[in-house]
Amino acid sequence: MIKAVIFDLDGVLVTTDELHFSAWKRLAEELGITGFTKADNARQRGVSRMASLEVVLEKTERKFSDEEKLALAEKKNDMYVKSLESLDKSAVLDGVFDFITYLRNNQIKTAVGSASKNTPVILKKTNLADKFDAVSCGLDTQKSKPDPEVFLIAAKKLGIEPSECVVIEDSDAGIEAAKTGGMYAVAVGEAEHNKKADISVSSIGSLNRIIEVFGR
Ligand code: BG6
Ligand code: MG
Repeated sequence: MIKAVIFDLDGVLVTTDELHFSAWKRLAEELGITGFTKADNARQRGVSRMASLEVVLEKTERKFSDEEKLALAEKKNDMYVKSLESLDKSAVLDGVFDFITYLRNNQIKTAVGSASKNTPVILKKTNLADKFDAVSCGLDTQKSKPDPEVFLIAAKKLGIEPSECVVIEDSDAGIEAAKTGGMYAVAVGEAEHNKKADISVSSIGSLNRIIEVFGR
């Protein structure tokens, strides 16, 4: 039975995961790390800003104090936020607007569940801000995915039981978070082959049978 769908943001609703990668790569280069790759970036998917920073710092022998780490995370965020300036609805991934309309026409509630503290600004710039019944993001949480906190807060804001929520995720950490939280998990994009997910699809455009799959 599904009553709500909770969407991850970066890499599920919008293409911003590429902008995260560019900003982290630039920070890495400033630290003298030349080999920061897409494989490293894959381990940053879904996790918090500070956890993502640790993935970069693993690639250098240098040690940083907590204060220095905060300053590095802020520096990356400044670069990332600058790259969001030109963001508009063309950054919304294929099939997203139609899928949200389909869910709304079928009285299924919608929410965002993202680690990103930039969620509100991204939703606004991409014309997605008024498309969801609730938003839960890095500004609401204490714990990073794979902890289920961000999705449980989304379910609570919607007033729907976790067992009646489907999470759509492109990260392994997010799929684990959904399952630990007692929700269904749909893997898309980069997470397509994750075995813990209930179903996998290459893109949201292929999800128009979601109600038949999970029942209502
Ligand atoms: C997640 C991304 O959605 O948000 C991570 O997949 C990122 O890579 C995290 O680190 C935190 O984002 P922000 O915008 O708060 O730095
Ligand atoms: Mg994501």
